[in-house]
Amino acid sequence: MDFIIILTIILSVLSMKSNGANNSFDQYYTYLWGTDHFWVNPQGTEVQLKMDKNSGGAGFKSKLDFGSGLFHIKLKTPDKKTKGIVTSFYLTSNPDDGTPQGNHFELDFEFWGVDRRVQTNIFLNDGGRREQRFHLWFDPSKDFHMYQIIWNSHQIVFMVDNIPIRVFKNNSAKGITFPNKSMHADASIWNAPFAGPVTWSEAPFIAQYQDFGFDACSAPAKSGDISHCSSQQYFWNKPEYWELSAAQKQQMDKYKKSYMFYDYCSNKITWKPECSLNE
Ligand SMILES: *[C@@H]1O[C@H](CO)[C@@H](O)[C@H](O)[C@H]1NC(C)=O
Ligand SMILES: *[C@@H]1O[C@H](CO)[C@@H](O)[C@H](O)[C@H]1NC(C)=O
Ligand SMILES: *[C@@H]1O[C@H](CO)[C@@H](O)[C@H](O)[C@H]1NC(C)=O
Repeated sequence: MDFIIILTIILSVLSMKSNGANNSFDQYYTYLWGTDHFWVNPQGTEVQLKMDKNSGGAGFKSKLDFGSGLFHIKLKTPDKKTKGIVTSFYLTSNPDDGTPQGNHFELDFEFWGVDRRVQTNIFLNDGGRREQRFHLWFDPSKDFHMYQIIWNSHQIVFMVDNIPIRVFKNNSAKGITFPNKSMHADASIWNAPFAGPVTWSEAPFIAQYQDFGFDACSAPAKSGDISHCSSQQYFWNKPEYWELSAAQKQQMDKYKKSYMFYDYCSNKITWKPECSLNE
């Protein structure tokens, strides 16, 4: 008996060590909206967000605001397929208190619920409209996959299972705005008119999230200052994160060529000056 108890304690200490961080939902995030459409298991290892016809969906947010980091989460989109229901993971400088959405910074992953579609978008203290859209090379509703956002003072990188799919460089020297305000991480399910009409007969739609831990530099929104977050004491600010390696660039080009089906830079109406500077 005693032996088993001691062994259990040793094993749990070891597993905490090997996991490094406390990965639980409560450590990093907190409920945002949805009442009974938001569910977290008692261990804090999984969250489900539900959307149905008479609800506004559900969401959660990081407890803190940040000025740089390597953000990531694992998620599974609803197994019931429809247009119009968007599952998201994003960073935003907008407060979550319902004040009207003005100009702000935002970095988005948005899953459209059909055709393996994911959209990334970037708001630079403006109206955004920097969409790129992919058909993923797997069904995001079948298994958990990891979605990552690197944000340091040199670049922003969107990655899917460690494969870079988008880079936005700090070209502020060339007059391009780059996020310089603290942001927090949000995740949600909601009915997004831009993603088409919903087939409500398929409801409810349930998105699942896991692996809540991430590495980031805390920067209270009140002060507005993120300059301490470019310190190289943080691994994501080290030179190897300043730009993609040659191999990563090649990989990104390959995946864009095969899977990207819309790019705001290829559209005369939405083209912006950074389009010729991010290669
Ligand atoms: C993990 O964090 C949660 C919330 O802060 C806390 O309740 C729990 O005790 C922590 N677990 C460990 C193993 O540190
Ligand atoms: C962007 O890069 C410039 C150097 O070109 C630097 O001075 C500035 O701090 C960077 N911006 C942010 C928000 O990190
Ligand atoms: C962010 O940069 C803009 C210029 O692009 C500047 O006007 C603003 O004061 C900066 N904000 C902070 C918090 O540094």
